[in-house]
Amino acid sequence: MYKTPPPQLGRYRLIRQIGAGGLARVYLARHPTHGQVALKLPLPMVEQRRDLTRRFQSEARMLKRLRHPNILHLFETGIIRLGDGQTQYFIATEYLPDGALSDLLARSGGRLPERHVMPLAVQIADALAYAHDHGVIHRDIKPSNLLLRSPTFAVLADFGIARSFAEQTITRGNTVLGTLAYMSPEQTLGDRDLVRRGSDIYSFGVVLYEMLSGHQPRNNPDLLDVVVVQMIQQQPFPSLLRAAPHVSPDLAAVVHRCLQPGRAQRYDSMHAVATDLRHVAERHGYQLPGPDREAMGGRHPSIPWAMIIGVGGATVLLIFLLAVIVMTQAVTPGVRFTP
Ligand SMILES: Nc1ncnc2c1ncn2[C@@H]1O[C@H](COP(=O)(O)OP(=O)(O)OP(=O)(O)O)[C@@H](O)[C@H]1O
Ligand SMILES: [Mg+2]
Repeated sequence: MYKTPPPQLGRYRLIRQIGAGGLARVYLARHPTHGQVALKLPLPMVEQRRDLTRRFQSEARMLKRLRHPNILHLFETGIIRLGDGQTQYFIATEYLPDGALSDLLARSGGRLPERHVMPLAVQIADALAYAHDHGVIHRDIKPSNLLLRSPTFAVLADFGIARSFAEQTITRGNTVLGTLAYMSPEQTLGDRDLVRRGSDIYSFGVVLYEMLSGHQPRNNPDLLDVVVVQMIQQQPFPSLLRAAPHVSPDLAAVVHRCLQPGRAQRYDSMHAVATDLRHVAERHGYQLPGPDREAMGGRHPSIPWAMIIGVGGATVLLIFLLAVIVMTQAVTPGVRFTP
């Protein structure tokens, strides 16, 4: 593990750094077969925790199986053994040059028009519903983990991985790493078992609130973590309609149902959230991504193996039958081709 990684890491050639979080640095890199990738390298102090790196690897293996157009495609993850006996953990994913929702919000003065929020919200809700159906909880939904294929095509990133590194015990000074501001009340208790899909629904509500209003009352660098935890546990989220009177009341109602402090009062599934968001979009005539894009699998349409095997098999069978016919005619006495 290096403070500054060498320009060639295993089969990856580092091109430039594209981002940095509390736990890792992200580089644009090139791989001989994957092409351009985003290579995430955990910071050395994270790598020193062997228990976390093991958990991280097993989560990453599980995530490799998630295939959805709105979930960042993971190429591979593992350890690169460097010549001098050192090692470097890495996560290689597809590279999205449009960056994160946090960048888009910063460029747009903090908030987006409702018409723009809706397609992004539905796509994120669909991706989360798919993950929950596969038994995966994200646990770190926030604008910097929502990447963009285009300004209206959202892709969920950092599934579970960041949070598995950001266990409560990893601290820098007295600050817990990771972003408290998007956590559900139950997540701030630090008990991993309490963090179920309802926690993702809450964090999703926080992101929607921020996209629509340009405010995130708990995302304030001047507040101590202990104060933010108190706010999350004791104060209900302030009214979205008061913070942003231009928001449609039916959409605000969806957001607030996600933001209920008690899990039982929230939506009970991300599917239900996605359905209500679609109803809102329909009522207001907002355009949503078409089913062809959703079905296509983003930039990574799955290879139609069934079709390839079917067509290949039929061709082999046909050649075999033709060969048998020709051979049979060649050895059958009395049968002649007339010119
Ligand atoms: N696959 C990717 N393609 C393009 N840019 C990316 C990709 N992954 C990450 N980035 C960029 O790198 C930045 C940092 O990402 P990273 O996940 O390391 O940190 P974070 O999400 O901001 O915070 P933390 O992980 O510490 O909670 C992102 O905000 C984004 O701009
Ligand atoms: Mg991230």
